[in-house]
Amino acid sequence: MSKFGYGAAAIVLAVLSLQAGADGSPGKDKAIYGKAASIEQGRYLTRIAGCNDCHTAGYMASAGNVPEAQWLLGDSLGWQGDWGTTYAINLRLYVKDMSEEQWVAMARTKQSRPPMPWFGLREMKDADLRAIYRFLRFLGPAGEPAPAYLPPGQQATGPVARFPSPPPR
Ligand code: HEC
Repeated sequence: MSKFGYGAAAIVLAVLSLQAGADGSPGKDKAIYGKAASIEQGRYLTRIAGCNDCHTAGYMASAGNVPEAQWLLGDSLGWQGDWGTTYAINLRLYVKDMSEEQWVAMARTKQSRPPMPWFGLREMKDADLRAIYRFLRFLGPAGEPAPAYLPPGQQATGPVARFPSPPPR
């Protein structure tokens, strides 16, 4: 094979392995996303923008002392108010079958129930949203889905944090 031929084959292989990583398998995702500079930015943002506070069990109570391997797996603590009971979802499973473009589109349009600060997500710059996505893919899928949303009046089985009704405006 000519010199050029080897080069072309290497490129084809590189492209193929990139595609292979899109299947959500943790090992491959680590290899692909782990090298990107945006991983560090994603790690930083999930710490300072509050994502871990709610989406990582025990994060708030331990002042952030949760090993990274357990980050963003969702929480079974319910948030209860006029809206019913919500649970911070497992973000690593959430992005498992989602493309980066779908994630950005979701962040621009989604209006979740309280106390998810969806309006903060909507205001994020594209590069920051992409960094969070890549960090989630780098961490890889793990854990279980968080408990499902319960409409108002439906009893939660686990612990809940109750929000009082806001004063009338
Ligand atoms: C104060 C707690 C809290 C914080 C902070 C928080 N979340 Fe959430 N998040 C939730 C809860 C609770 C839900 C479930 C809401 C529902 O059931 O509608 C949720 C849902 C979501 C969803 C699912 C959207 C959907 O309905 O499809 C995404 C994505 C998400 N959060 C991402 C993030 C990211 C990224 C951050 C950090 C920038 C973050 N969250 C910070 C509590 C929080």
